[in-house]
Amino acid sequence: MENYNQPMFKAQELKDKVIVVTGGGSGLGKSMTKYFLQLGAKVVISSRDIDKLKNAAQELKNETHGEVLPIQCDVRNYNEVEAMLQTTLDTFGKVDGLLNNAAGNFISPTERLSARAFDIIIDIVLKGSKNCTLAFGKHWINSKQKNATVLNIVTTYASTGSAYVVPSATAKAGVLAMTRSLAVEWAKYGIRMNAIAPGPFPTKGAWDRLLPGDLKDKFDLSKKVPLKRMGEHQELANLAGYLMSDYSAYINGEVITIDGGEWLQGAGQFNMLEQIPQELWDQLEKMIRAKKQ
Ligand code: HXC
Ligand code: NAP
Repeated sequence: MENYNQPMFKAQELKDKVIVVTGGGSGLGKSMTKYFLQLGAKVVISSRDIDKLKNAAQELKNETHGEVLPIQCDVRNYNEVEAMLQTTLDTFGKVDGLLNNAAGNFISPTERLSARAFDIIIDIVLKGSKNCTLAFGKHWINSKQKNATVLNIVTTYASTGSAYVVPSATAKAGVLAMTRSLAVEWAKYGIRMNAIAPGPFPTKGAWDRLLPGDLKDKFDLSKKVPLKRMGEHQELANLAGYLMSDYSAYINGEVITIDGGEWLQGAGQFNMLEQIPQELWDQLEKMIRAKKQ
């Protein structure tokens, strides 16, 4: 398989769709935005840092010739989210998709965290996703717009939990519960809710906070993945493009894992037997069979 890092859709599969990407000025949000633009969508990118957003918007415009609008918005504040939605509607006349991608995270033993440090992650991830989902959902329901979609970026540890990133795991689990709950409740309004759980996809934002210093050499994350590599941004963008498009119209309430098998490798109790060399299996089999006699 050589072409996994190529764009999956080739035509204007998101033409005329208006999509808001929170945290769209960097990392995975920026990569997904780029692909949405290539597929003909108009995209609003938002985050706290307007200079970063303006630079990213210019870069994306140059690369794709698409329409991208940077809007400053701290997702923790509901009034800022409502203002961002209003500017989107004033500019583009409608909105079809919301990508809840903004996040905060860093590694720490939980007992070292102040109450505020724990809160800040919950506020960005869970409260932020809730604020955007609620504001956009109310708009879609009140305006009787059919065919809207919310896509939430969670992680595989939203389901399994993880030590040392406890605020993030707690918050992402909440986002996953919200995804599944509203998928049922809001389907009648034509709103689909899905999530993506990515494994390791290198970005500066995540790597600076999760693998600082020489941790990135000590813990080579690709070794934890059965496919022995990390994710390519285009692979994630392909999945996000599909889930934002009408081709995924019957997918609702799903969380799609894209991690090369990483979390299952950690889950199976005997997966460590991968380390046993092939030649040893003859010997082990003989020993086990001998016990029977
Ligand atoms: C302990 C810390 C800390 C650390 C900050 N704090 N860093 N505590 N260890 N390393 C504490 C501060 O002391 C403060 O508490 C509180 O947290 C808030 O910190 P501030 O610096 O004031 O907050 P702010 O400037 O708003 O920054 C928020 C942030 C920062 C979350 C701390 O990292 C950020 O802006 N992140 C955004 C981008 C991001 O995190 N991207 C990574 C997503 S990766 P006190 O009590 O002292 O006031 C991801 C991947 C998941 O989610 C899965 C990967 C495989
Ligand atoms: P990133 O570049 O640091 O992205 C996080 C984004 O969130 C930034 O653009 C940041 O912009 C924005 N943000 C943070 N706080 C915000 C706030 N209060 N309001 C609005 N925006 C805010 O890291 P990334 O790796 O691309 O992460 C993107 C998403 O993927 C996150 O949801 C993350 O949990 C998820 N994820 C990543 C990986 C991975 O391997 N990289 C794996 C699993 C899941 P500002 O600082 O300008 O506000």
